[in-house]
Amino acid sequence: MTNYDTLTDRTAVVTGASSGIGEATARALAAGGAAVALFARRGDKLADVAAKITADGGRAIAVEVDVTSASSVADGGAAVRGAFGRVDLVVNNAGVMLAAPMTDVRTDHWARMIDLNVTGALRVIGEFTPDLVAAAADGGTADLVDISSVAAHGLFPNYAVYCATKAAITHLSANLRTEFGPKDVRVTNIEPGIVRSELLSHLDEDQAAGLAPWIDSVGSLSAEELADVVAYAASRARHVNLRQIIVQPTRQV
Ligand SMILES: NC(=O)c1ccc[n+]([C@@H]2O[C@H](COP(=O)([O-])OP(=O)(O)OC[C@H]3O[C@@H](n4cnc5c(N)ncnc54)[C@H](OP(=O)(O)O)[C@@H]3O)[C@@H](O)[C@H]2O)c1
Repeated sequence: MTNYDTLTDRTAVVTGASSGIGEATARALAAGGAAVALFARRGDKLADVAAKITADGGRAIAVEVDVTSASSVADGGAAVRGAFGRVDLVVNNAGVMLAAPMTDVRTDHWARMIDLNVTGALRVIGEFTPDLVAAAADGGTADLVDISSVAAHGLFPNYAVYCATKAAITHLSANLRTEFGPKDVRVTNIEPGIVRSELLSHLDEDQAAGLAPWIDSVGSLSAEELADVVAYAASRARHVNLRQIIVQPTRQV
């Protein structure tokens, strides 16, 4: 992986940093010099990731945050500012994909996906918008990076609600540029295709087995390959905003 060392002096928050894309992104940003606050619920996993970053010479703190709780996000914000100061790079990555065939009326799955994938992202954006705006106003580089999905545009039977949450994130990112761009805060929306992570571990055996032949046929990206894209976008000159990035395995169409 390339080391984007222009991230020295940046202070990042990565949600969902205990596994998958979030963990790899936190490691990539820290390798580029950023101080990184790792947000997720599993404290033991976060501590492991923070220890790896520190062992590699980076700066990281593990902060147990549940993004479905406004007070937890606010406490997380206070913790990162206390440790590293103002935040200028936010990676909104925490998310879950649950099957929800409409005939099953899985209101529990709808609620969990909407509250985490959409409202959770909004809570994080709300918490750190003052930091981002102030950092940009002081002449620094400021980034909001939202991890959406190709599901924002794709049609996937039994995953309509997940797709809808990701469509919401993609549209939110595009609209926020109208508010943030004039304030010199960049917004980058990233739509990954298939990435190896814990995402499928939340499906039951049959649901995961249903996706396996398709994934086997098109392949997948590593979380590190996705993280490399995030670090690349965040390390451009401050007037260069990669606003929309779709990144997939070459065979996934
Ligand atoms: N993998 C793919 O193929 C793929 C493709 C397109 C988009 N994405 C998107 O990429 C993002 C990351 O997913 P992933 O693939 O890396 O899956 P993952 O390994 O399952 O990571 C999900 C992360 O979200 C965290 N999380 C879940 N609930 C949370 C909560 N209430 N508060 C805070 N953190 C929470 C999890 O940590 P804790 O359980 O410790 O809280 C975990 O770190 C998701 O938004 C997903 O929709 C993934």
